[in-house]
Amino acid sequence: MNIVVVGVQWGDEGKGKVIDVLCTDVDILVRYQGGNNAGHTVIVEGEEFIFHLIPSGLLHPGKIGLIGNGVVIDPEALLQEMERLRSRGVDVEQVVKISDQSHLIFPYHKRLDLLEEASRLGRRLGTTGRGIGPCYVDKVARCGIRVADLCNPKSFPKKLRQVVEEKNRIFQALYHEPPMAYEELLDRYSQYARVLKPHSVNGIRFLRQAMAEGKHILFEGAQGTMLDLDYGTYPYVTSSNATAGGVCTGAGVAPTAIDKVIGVVKAYTTRVGEGPLPSEFPPGLMEKIRTKGQEFGATTGRPRRCGWFDAIVARHAIGINGVEAIAVTKLDVLDEMETIQVCVGYKIGTHTIQEFPSDTELLWDAEPCYESLPGWCADTSLAERFEELPQGAQGYLRRLENLLEVPICLVSTGSKREQAFKVGSVGSW
Ligand code: IMP
Repeated sequence: MNIVVVGVQWGDEGKGKVIDVLCTDVDILVRYQGGNNAGHTVIVEGEEFIFHLIPSGLLHPGKIGLIGNGVVIDPEALLQEMERLRSRGVDVEQVVKISDQSHLIFPYHKRLDLLEEASRLGRRLGTTGRGIGPCYVDKVARCGIRVADLCNPKSFPKKLRQVVEEKNRIFQALYHEPPMAYEELLDRYSQYARVLKPHSVNGIRFLRQAMAEGKHILFEGAQGTMLDLDYGTYPYVTSSNATAGGVCTGAGVAPTAIDKVIGVVKAYTTRVGEGPLPSEFPPGLMEKIRTKGQEFGATTGRPRRCGWFDAIVARHAIGINGVEAIAVTKLDVLDEMETIQVCVGYKIGTHTIQEFPSDTELLWDAEPCYESLPGWCADTSLAERFEELPQGAQGYLRRLENLLEVPICLVSTGSKREQAFKVGSVGSW
């Protein structure tokens, strides 16, 4: 069984926790896009671990993690993450694999990310500053450097020199910034090559072999559908395809190899960075939910913007990804609300729409149309079964199923691994 877990909103839906809970029967976990702009938090025995590049789920013994070719890798960040995993007793040498076709992030990408962002006066994207966008730009411009290039001592110096010279022309002419030292970069990255080479595999062959052996694979999306380069709130998006389609190009598997797609939604909405967010809370409620839900970016620490659940966004995402079941996270954050709103339409001028518009500029002026549901004003954090939830919480979840036309397969009511329960028959792979 090969399963994909995707974010249905703007990322930070709690995919790390859901994957950690769902992956008990999985053999291999695969990241297929993004980079260390992602932050997947898992809390085990009171201790927090944030995965940025390595697939979450590797805290379970016996799992193998593959960083697919669609991911952009910052070696420095990867080595730090490997070290942290090692200190948690994970046999990193054995379990972390990297596709040799993954592109690498270099310091010039990070520098360009910051310079480009600073020059976008009045229309900043709010990037994480990790060099993600510029690295994908080089991939598309066909001047990117991949893991296989890094591990080839004959051709790597030449490729790096060419790119550095080009970037230095940009730094100097466009930004009036000092150039970067090629020799220093060559030296640093040649050292990374020695450490990363043993982890490097042909990702396509690796997965094909695993499938032939009947292994169970979980493909984990980073960010969320609304940050997808094609289907999100462009241009306020990340530079990769976070949606399920990204699995085929970002891991090298055929669409027919995917058996199931699970979408993860937060019981409300959040986004970090710039861009429209139609169901955004007013300031008082924003503070309340942000504090209760600890809504601060796992990668940058930035406060997340919070809002009511947006059914228009979720329906859009469910259609694109072919989501067959949803995992709802952070239900407990709404425990104290007397009334809960769900956005079911956008009023734009004199029209009301129920479908997500392709002209996302319209979203700036979209007035959310809300459906009000009773809250439950009770603690959900100890529930172990759907039936143990307060009536109001059950009603809210049933209404979401109704609006989204997919069943709920998992509910999470707290940050700990134990604070989640399956609903229905999901997980029977
Ligand atoms: P970039 O991916 O760093 O280029 O940032 C582009 C946009 O995606 C910004 O609004 C970021 O805040 C957002 N973003 C990137 N990664 C994540 C994530 O893992 N969670 C939430 N937002 C993200």
